[in-house]
Amino acid sequence: MKIVVVGSINMDYVLKTRELPKRGETLSAQSFNTVFGGKGANQAVAAARLGAEVTMIGAVGNDSIGKELKDNLEKENIDVTGVNVVEGASGVAMINVADNGDNTIVVYPGANFKLQEQWIDKYEELIKSADCLMVQLEIPMNIVMKSVKIASENGVKVIFNPAPAKEFPVEIFKYIDIITPNETELQKISGKEDIKEGARELINRGASSVVVTLGEQGSMYIDKDNDYMAGSYKVNSIDSTAAGDAFNAALAMNIVKSTDIENGLRFSNAVGALVTTKLGAQTSLPYKEEVTNFIVQEDNK
Ligand code: RIB
Repeated sequence: MKIVVVGSINMDYVLKTRELPKRGETLSAQSFNTVFGGKGANQAVAAARLGAEVTMIGAVGNDSIGKELKDNLEKENIDVTGVNVVEGASGVAMINVADNGDNTIVVYPGANFKLQEQWIDKYEELIKSADCLMVQLEIPMNIVMKSVKIASENGVKVIFNPAPAKEFPVEIFKYIDIITPNETELQKISGKEDIKEGARELINRGASSVVVTLGEQGSMYIDKDNDYMAGSYKVNSIDSTAAGDAFNAALAMNIVKSTDIENGLRFSNAVGALVTTKLGAQTSLPYKEEVTNFIVQEDNK
C-alpha cells in the first residue's frame, strides 16, 4: 500500500501535570518530554509502522529542530523527497497532559504554513503514483485543496481528516473518499447533534463516506447505503495525543483496498486504543505486530 501524506511536521513539548492549570495558575510539572509530532507526520509514521510505503510532503524550518524532524521521518522509513527546508522556525506544539488524560494543545505552525503550491506541482507524480492520499488541516487550505484535487483526478483515494476543526470549502467533498471527523468536529461541520444525522448531512454535501471516531465508544462508518459501528477496546488510557492520527493511518491501510469495513474499523480502533496507553505522539504509535497481538489477546479474553 503506497500512501502519500501532505501535512504538518511538529516538535511536541509535552508537560505532564496532575491537573490542567486553571486561568492564571502556575503549576509544577511531573515530567517534560520532547516528542516528534504534527498531525501529518504522526499519520505518516503510524502508517509506516503498520507496514505502508509512505511518502511525506511538508516543510520544516532551517532552525535547530528542522533537521531532527526530517531525520526522524527518514529513520521511520519514510520517503522525505517532498519535505522542504524553509527559512525560519519549524512547527511546534506545547502540550499539557493531566493525570486523567485530558490535554490542551497549542500549535505554532511555523514552516508548515510556508508550504507552497509550486511544491505540490513539483511532487505531483508522487501523489499520482500513490494508492491513498491523507490530508489534515494543519497546513494552508490551498495546499490541501490542490493535493486532493490532483489525487482525486488521478484515481488516488483521499482520506481527509478535518482536524484541527476549522472552516474548509464545501468544494472539497467532491474530491474526497472518506472524511474522518471526531464527534465534536462532526457536530461543528454538520451543525447537527446526532451522529448519524451529521454524517448524512456531510453525505448530502457530497462526501462519499464518513468515518466518525467516538473515543471510548469506538467508531462508525456511514455511506449512502450502509452504516457500521465498531466498539473500541478497553485499555488504561493515559494520553489521547495522536490517537486520531494513528486511527486515520490504520483506516487507510485497512479500508481503502478492502470491502471488509467492520474489520477495518475494529483494527483501527485497536490502533487508536493502544496509542492512548502511552504518553506523547510518535512515542506511542504501535507497530503492526503489536496491534495484531493485542487484538488476539483481547478477543480471547
Ligand atoms: O494530533 C496530535 C498532534 O497535534 C500533535 O502531535 C501536535 O503536534 C499537534 O499537531
